[in-house]
Parts: sequence; structure tokens; C-alpha cells
Amino acid sequence: MQLDESEDVLKEQSEYIEYVRSWNDEYYRKNNRRRKAFCLTMGCQMNAHDSEKLVGYLEDMGYEMTNAEKGADFVIYNTCCIRANAEEKVYGRLGWLKTYKHKHPDVIIAMCGCMVQQDTVMEQIRRTYNFVDVIFGTFNLYTFPKLLATRIQSGSSVYDIWTKSKKIVESMSAMREHKFKASVNIMYGCNNFCSYCIVPYVRGRERSRKPEDIIKEVEALAAEGVKEVMLLGQNVNSYGKTLENPVSFAELLRMVNEVDGIERIRFMTSHPKDLSDELIAAMRDCDKVCNYLHLPVQSGSSRVLEKMNRRYTKEKYLELVDKIKKEIPDILISTDIIVGFPGETEEDFKETLDVVDRVGYSTAFTFLYSKREGTPAAKMDNQIDEETAKERFNRLLEHVNSGVEKISETLVGTVENVLVEEINRQDKTMVTGRTERNSLVHFKGGEELIGQVVPVKITQNKIFYLIGERM
Ligand code: 5AD
Ligand code: SF4
Repeated sequence: MQLDESEDVLKEQSEYIEYVRSWNDEYYRKNNRRRKAFCLTMGCQMNAHDSEKLVGYLEDMGYEMTNAEKGADFVIYNTCCIRANAEEKVYGRLGWLKTYKHKHPDVIIAMCGCMVQQDTVMEQIRRTYNFVDVIFGTFNLYTFPKLLATRIQSGSSVYDIWTKSKKIVESMSAMREHKFKASVNIMYGCNNFCSYCIVPYVRGRERSRKPEDIIKEVEALAAEGVKEVMLLGQNVNSYGKTLENPVSFAELLRMVNEVDGIERIRFMTSHPKDLSDELIAAMRDCDKVCNYLHLPVQSGSSRVLEKMNRRYTKEKYLELVDKIKKEIPDILISTDIIVGFPGETEEDFKETLDVVDRVGYSTAFTFLYSKREGTPAAKMDNQIDEETAKERFNRLLEHVNSGVEKISETLVGTVENVLVEEINRQDKTMVTGRTERNSLVHFKGGEELIGQVVPVKITQNKIFYLIGERM
């Protein structure tokens, strides 16, 4: 999409922002309080970043953000549907909202995100939760001001779900959670169709932003004092393939590495099938790119991987890990693992344990397989019973934890540069931050350190976090 097209889109929205803003200003003049907005975010970093954009809009529209749902005049749920429990949580909360809205009919309720991209969910909402005022999906987040303004003007519900769009809207403002670190979308959607995954159906086909737009955003963030950027995409390794002038992710990393003021570059998620030698070389060469890689394996069994449509084998994955460790010896690797995929046998599961033991992950996100209607895996035979899956899950955790403990032990005695994020929640005399390799560290320090990168000597291994002393 051309930038002038983005400008048109944003100009149109700005008229609606103005409209809602004056509606809210008038309320403020009459009541001496601002209408409050509450935003609940579920799911991945992509959603978290979308919520930053929503909050940016809400503040521009004259709302005051609140952390308390009760008492809010506007409530939005930015939903996730990757596993069934994420959806169940939303339905549970909608039950509460129904009563809340009954008591406070002026409250406006909105839903967006991945969950509402599914027809079955929309049917359910129309049937049972028709008190929801505004609904939009993952393709038209930028139309939120228009939809809200329409709801305010008309008094009736506005549901607008798109099933596809190639449009990428540039220059949307976002209210960042942190001043010193920021997420940057580099691409949207996914073309991989892993057989268990709903994402390609709710986020559509892969579309990459142009490198010049990405660099412009990163430069603007650096000018505002951001030190760490997280480049986001469902599968960053296939970045740029669909651009008019194709650019590889490795090339993009090298460009971002040149931006003055940025000290750390992270990215997620990498699909092992597309992780090129060129990317490994870029990670090795670029001083700002963190020596940390999230490399989801999903299963250690080549048989299961094939049924998952992952397009690599256990051997290929392990070879890749070896190659990365050889080029970047101090790298830490994390992963995602699914337990209980249809047809997974005890032997298959043992292969997963073997991969965990051999790779030595610094973190592993472990999930019980969740059947998602509409995906190929939902129709596969031999769905695993809950008891077996849970028992395997617990055994997997033991292996993961012992691997994490070993990795953390190797960090004791090292000096790590820690980007301080916040005052420790339990002990106010301490601060919490992350090392370049993404380990969580607590050490004695005060508020003035927030946003600074400071050298810290690691003194204790607490498995899931480290204790250190400022050098
Ligand atoms: N069931 C369980 N876990 C899933 N994931 C994706 N789909 C499912 C599913 N149906 C996990 C994968 C992915 C992570 C973001 O969520 O491990 O990498
Ligand atoms: Fe889902 Fe696979 Fe795409 Fe990741 S790569 S979003 S797991 S389909």
C-alpha cells in the first residue's frame, strides 16, 4: 500500500476521533470527570501491540484509561483463540459484563481480536451476548474510531468483521507500555497452516511491511528514547518474500542494526523450516541483535511433525540448533511445545523429551494440544485423552525445568547487561530487568535505573529468575 493511501485512511479516522473526543469532552464539562476505558488483552505479543494501538486511539478520543473493569464506561476485550481455554475465559467474563451492562446501560462494550474472526463465535455472540456494542476483527483495527463513532451516533450495535485485506496502514499511533522498549510489526498473517493452528484462518495471509516504513518507525522510536525493539511477525523468517522488491529478514535485521540509539534488537517468531544461514550470519554479525532465539519445536517426533505440517524433522531441527550454537556459542534458545497432538504415542512423546534434553532450552512454553474447529488436526483420528496428555505434560515440565536449571546455573558468576524494566513487585528495594539473552534478573536498585542498561553480576540461580548485584 502507498503511504498516501495510509494518510487517507488515517485522515478519515481522525474525523471520527474528533467526533468521539467532543462527545467525551462534553461529558467532562457536565460531570467533571472523564469517561473511563478498560482494555483487556489476551494472547500473544501481536495482540499486546494491537492493544497499544487501541489505547492510543482511546486516549486520543478523550477517554481516561483505567485498570478496573468495574466502574469503566467503555470496555474492550482484545481476544485470542489459539487454545480453547482463552475463549472460555472470554465467555466467562462476558457473563459478568452482561450483568454489569444491565445495571449500567450507558456502558459501551467492544470486542476485537482473533476470536471474533470465527463464524461460530459470531453466531454465539449474536445468540447469547448481543449486548456487545462494537465488534471488529484483526484486519480492520484501524477503523475502530469510525465504528465507535457510528455506535454513539446510532445507538445500535456495530459489527464489522473482514475476512481479508491486503491493506497495511502505516503511522498509526500507539500508547506504548514502556518508554524504553517497543514492539514493531514487520509482517502480518501466516501462510504455514500448521495443522493444529487457527492463526492462518483468523489473521489471514502473510503481508510484509516495506523495510523503509519499518526503519522509519524504528528511527522515530529511537528518537523518543526507545532502546530495545522487538520485531514482530508470526513467522519473521519469511519476511519480505511478498514485497514488490523482496528483502530478506536477514537484510532487514542488518538495516535495523544501523539505527542510532537502538541498543537491542529482538524478534519473534522464527519458524525452523525458514531459518537461513544468512539469518544466522546476520545474528552473529549485528552487535545489537540479542543472542537469544525463540525457535518453536512443537514436537520432537518426526512422525508427529509431519502430521503437524511443520516441514522439518527432528534431525533437521537438531542440526539447525547445532549450526546456530556453533556460530553464536553463547546463544540461549527458547521454544514452544505441544503435548497430546492427535495420534501422539509414548514413543513420539519420548522423542520430544529427547529434544528437550539435548537442546537445553533457557525457557520452554508448554501447551496441552487444544482442538480448534476448522483446522485439519481437529478431524484427525486418535485424539489423545486428557489424562494421558496431562500426565505427559507433567513429565515434560520436569525435563524442561531441569534443563532450565542447568542453563541458569551456567549464568551464575557472569556479568550481564540488564535493561531495567520496573521496581520489583515483591521487594521494593529491588529492580527487575532482562539480560540481553532474555533472563529475568532481580537486583538491589531504585527507580532511577528504570530504562537504563546496567552491568549486573549474577550471584544466584533461582531457576526461573536470577539474583544479581550491580557492578
Ligand atoms: N493447541 C495447543 N497449542 C497450540 N499452539 C498453537 N495452536 C495450538 C493448539 N491448537 C501453540 C504453539 C504455538 C504457540 C503460540 O501456541 O506451540 O507456537
Ligand atoms: Fe500457527 Fe504455524 Fe503459523 Fe505459527 S507458523 S502461527 S504455529 S500456523
